[in-house]
Amino acid sequence: MTPDAITSSYRRWAPIYDMTFGRITHAGRRHATHVVNQSGGRVLEVGVGTGLALPYYAPEIEVTGIDFSDEMLERARAKVAEENLSHVTELRQMDARALDFPDASFDTVVAMHLISVVPDPEQVMAEMARVCKPGGQILVVNHFARDEGWLAWLERKFAPLANWIGWHSNFPKDRIMGVEALRLTEERSLTALGLFTYLRLEKAA
Ligand SMILES: C[S@@+](CC[C@H](N)C(=O)[O-])C[C@H]1O[C@@H](n2cnc3c(N)ncnc32)[C@H](O)[C@@H]1O
Repeated sequence: MTPDAITSSYRRWAPIYDMTFGRITHAGRRHATHVVNQSGGRVLEVGVGTGLALPYYAPEIEVTGIDFSDEMLERARAKVAEENLSHVTELRQMDARALDFPDASFDTVVAMHLISVVPDPEQVMAEMARVCKPGGQILVVNHFARDEGWLAWLERKFAPLANWIGWHSNFPKDRIMGVEALRLTEERSLTALGLFTYLRLEKAA
């Protein structure tokens, strides 16, 4: 998607996100935050959106969130205030293609339902790897394109509407597997139809 399309699409999504797409994607958030809570440390959530995952991090986890959309961030900030989520130390407007953090700042970097939205997913993966500490982990939850079946057909049909719906429906997983410092250590399907996939990548120590 283009940056302008992200801005306008997520301005439209922000007021209804939690009760629509947000509602059918809880499995990934619950799983990724469970993994984070077992690992501990400093966490960066890239494309934090309306902050649906924020209440699930354990209180001792220090969470920073960034997002491109001011309207999505506004809702994340409201959740932090309303639910007194003091483990969320910072929520900033930022482009995931150029993360404003020094190298090796975080133990875990999480990206949920983001990678098929951003304009340059390869660059975003490289940035997430850069800010992750050596030996740290990157957790990705996303819908990835499949090769065959009626769902693959639907994914292709919706693909031209990416800028309007807010993500690429036929995003191939291979596009994000090229960062040299990262090794895939776990991959699992999160729902019965295999709609969403969880990936754990480890950064070389
Ligand atoms: C489908 S939402 C997912 C939100 C959240 N991660 C979740 O699971 O509910 C995608 C989010 O990615 C954000 N986004 C898109 N492009 C971005 C970029 N280049 N940098 C940072 N955030 C971006 C959008 O603003 C939106 O909030």
